[in-house]
Amino acid sequence: MSFFIDDPLLQNIVELRNITQSYDDGKSVILDNFELLIEDKPDQGQFVALLGMSGCGKSTVLRYIAGLQKPTSGTVKVKNELVDGKNRVNMVFQQYSSLPWYTVLENVALGLTLRGIEKKQAIDKSRKMIEWVGLKGHENKYAQYPLLSGGQLQRVAIARSLISNPEILLMDEPFGALDIETRQSMQDLLLEIWKEYHTTIIFVTHDVSEAVYLADDVYIMKKSPSKIIKHIPVSLPLDRDYRIKKSNDFIGIYREIEDIMLSTLPQ
Ligand SMILES: Nc1ncnc2c1ncn2[C@@H]1O[C@H](COP(=O)(O)OP(=O)(O)OP(=O)(O)O)[C@@H](O)[C@H]1O
Ligand SMILES: [Mg+2]
Repeated sequence: MSFFIDDPLLQNIVELRNITQSYDDGKSVILDNFELLIEDKPDQGQFVALLGMSGCGKSTVLRYIAGLQKPTSGTVKVKNELVDGKNRVNMVFQQYSSLPWYTVLENVALGLTLRGIEKKQAIDKSRKMIEWVGLKGHENKYAQYPLLSGGQLQRVAIARSLISNPEILLMDEPFGALDIETRQSMQDLLLEIWKEYHTTIIFVTHDVSEAVYLADDVYIMKKSPSKIIKHIPVSLPLDRDYRIKKSNDFIGIYREIEDIMLSTLPQ
């Protein structure tokens, strides 16, 4: 059974088919006949959240889409083309991924200069983005611990990924290390950027409330072997602020997801 609309007239922006991932000469099978199709919504963008227990293969799936890993077998396509690592896909990793030998400003500007934008323009835009992610005043510090805290370093990585306006932004538990206030403001920032740029975002999180707040579609994965077991469209207005978390609609979707996730635990 498939949860995906597989209409040949609709373009899938991301398409994973018949994916197998095994290690140790086939003794350990992580993914078997795994499928994930994300339909393109050009005027809106897609915000997909991927939930699932630890070890079920969420980061692996993101690495395929980013072109950082090839599956043992199966096809991975972005915009109908086989992934070759050259697609406009950016990834924010589970671990901090700022470059410690560059300053905060240089780290963020790199997201633009790598795309061929002239340095002065890149610096001006980067200053604005740094302010947006709440790091004004830290521009000239090296992006390393303990000069910046863990959460601040993650914000540098997020700013660098967002500024280049990628077609697909892959985010692997990006807000896990942030305090509740910064986390809420980063969630709102991400929603603003999503609405402005129509980026397709695939967001991995362990936080059900975060998934419901941000996403348009939630997919739940189980493991051994891993499969998408449920697609939940989030039927909440696109314009959201934190007050929606207290609404009955929000709480209903939250509970539905939590029940499904608990049902995937080994008995
Ligand atoms: N090189 C490897 N050799 C053997 N097993 C591997 C290798 N790389 C990944 N795995 C296994 O693949 C599975 C999926 O890993 P992955 O990191 O994708 O999980 P995840 O869903 O992102 O987990 P988490 O929520 O903890 O981040 C894990 O069981 C992991 O041990
Ligand atoms: Mg992971």
